[in-house]
Amino acid sequence: MTIQTVGIIGAGTMGNGIAQACAVSGINVVMVDISDAAVQKGLATVAGSLDRLIKKEKISAADKDAALARIKTSTSYDDLKAAQLVIEAATENYELKLKILKQVDALVGPEVLIASNTSSISITKLAAATSRADRFIGMHFFNPVPMMALVEIIRGLQTSDATHDAVKALAEALGKSPITVKNAPGFVVNRILVPMINEAFFVLAEGLATPEDIDAGMKLGCNQPIGPLALADMIGLDVCLAVMDVYLTEFGDSKYRPCPLLKEMVAAGRLGRKTGQGVYSY
Ligand SMILES: NC(=O)c1ccc[n+]([C@@H]2O[C@H](COP(=O)([O-])OP(=O)(O)OC[C@H]3O[C@@H](n4cnc5c(N)ncnc54)[C@H](O)[C@@H]3O)[C@@H](O)[C@H]2O)c1
Repeated sequence: MTIQTVGIIGAGTMGNGIAQACAVSGINVVMVDISDAAVQKGLATVAGSLDRLIKKEKISAADKDAALARIKTSTSYDDLKAAQLVIEAATENYELKLKILKQVDALVGPEVLIASNTSSISITKLAAATSRADRFIGMHFFNPVPMMALVEIIRGLQTSDATHDAVKALAEALGKSPITVKNAPGFVVNRILVPMINEAFFVLAEGLATPEDIDAGMKLGCNQPIGPLALADMIGLDVCLAVMDVYLTEFGDSKYRPCPLLKEMVAAGRLGRKTGQGVYSY
């Protein structure tokens, strides 16, 4: 199946980023959100991002106009009928996603593929809630989407080879480097990344080194662009803790126990950059 038009549900951080990546690669987009204000904000974000690319001489003004002309915005799911693939990138909430996916499943043709950009919800479980589990898949883009090369393509237990191959080909057409992953909590990247951050909090709590030295160690010794504690401040300590709690519950393995210092800091409201104080002060 060739995908010429992609429907995107949610015009937020990820939705508008996916819309931009598609539009600059010549794919038509229908971007849907709950209000005009939300879709207009999403579209303005794409326009601003394309302006920065013009300044950097990566694209021309004509490229920007052509990309924007490929993005249709709407507040009606009916407009998703034009798509061969619908990517759900709405707020991370299981009940909400279930409602959206059931609605889309009932609306679009049986041949249409549906993907979710969820970071933490089981693709197998979401697929089972639709009438097309074999045509359902995870497409986990990374933020900021236009800059980040990786897409984790997550196969639910039911996902067919044809669905996987079509979605992988689309990711490549967007200039991305997809990796194929079986469904499991955290998929691959976050499964490794978040426990590493949690371990950095254990190292800090044990007083083995200062935060600055822990981060410098991982940057200089492992070639990481940012240290794990500074990264935790960017992601949000509450998000890191919530992810560890999911791993602990889902795997039932004590190796995923959240560091008590991480829990203390979240309880104190020291969530990182967004609250002005995390491991570091902002
Ligand atoms: N932000 C990240 O770094 C990141 C990275 C990878 C994956 N994700 C995942 O991507 C998804 C979206 O995250 P985000 O950061 O873009 O969130 P966001 O809050 O920026 O955007 C979510 C958008 O969904 C819209 N929405 C809510 N209910 C809707 C509905 N019923 N129909 C249509 N639109 C609806 C909201 O109005 C909002 O514009 C989540 O599942 C998240 O876990 C996020």
